[in-house]
Amino acid sequence: MSAAAIHVRDLHVAYGSVIALSGVTLDLAPGSVTGLVGMNGSGKSTLFSALIGMLPGARGEIRLLGKDPAAARTAGLVAFVPQTEVIDRDFPISVREVVMLGRFGHLGFTRRPRATDRAAVAAALERVGLTELADRPIGALSGGQRKRAFVARGIVQDARVLLLDEPFGGVDAVSQTLITGVLRELRDEGRSLLVATHDLAGIPDLCDEVILLNKRILFHGDPATALRPENLALTFGVAP
Ligand SMILES: Nc1ncnc2c1ncn2[C@@H]1O[C@H](COP(=O)(O)OP(=O)(O)OP(=O)(O)O)[C@@H](O)[C@H]1O
Ligand SMILES: [Mg+2]
Repeated sequence: MSAAAIHVRDLHVAYGSVIALSGVTLDLAPGSVTGLVGMNGSGKSTLFSALIGMLPGARGEIRLLGKDPAAARTAGLVAFVPQTEVIDRDFPISVREVVMLGRFGHLGFTRRPRATDRAAVAAALERVGLTELADRPIGALSGGQRKRAFVARGIVQDARVLLLDEPFGGVDAVSQTLITGVLRELRDEGRSLLVATHDLAGIPDLCDEVILLNKRILFHGDPATALRPENLALTFGVAP
């Protein structure tokens, strides 16, 4: 059995005739933050969908802590923060309740929160700077505030593997610094994080490793080398 937290071998994904991922192979260690970088349409979100077992047509091998994606999710080993989350403006659920959903996971909605659940939710809200807004309806938050609420929901899941698809999208600089600190703490606790980001400037602070993606893996290694102009030119077509 592989010691990798995230283990992918020769993953291929196509949507009809559109090839989204081709021959992706990677191993991510426990206790590491890996940045996933690539231009729009390069397959980042597709990789996350495959890792959570949402792409039945994906070919290749995926193991999360030695389990297939569905088993890993059922066992509560994986938390996923999606790139976009569709929320009705009038959805009658508070920010605190949204984050609490992360605690219920597979136990169902009927379970009553215990003191430890409430404490974990309060701590996560504090960590993303949303304590003041905890009792607002989720639909009454701005886009960046809402993003932070979903990051908090991912944090309280207490998962060994965290998959975050652009957690900084639309988030302001202060909140980004807060969230970066939280993600590093989670890493220091031995968790494995894969984080898609378009914020190249934030990478040295956040990441132990970087994957440059354009349907296939162009580079996987240390952040300083990833950010060299020739590698960025390879990834984005022109140096950004
Ligand atoms: N459900 C789908 N049906 C058909 N094509 C899709 C579908 N989802 C994604 N694609 C295509 O697959 C490719 C990869 O998309 P993906 O969403 O994984 O990119 P991404 O790297 O996450 O981009 P972004 O930075 O914009 O979030 C794109 O060409 C996209 O148009
Ligand atoms: Mg995406």
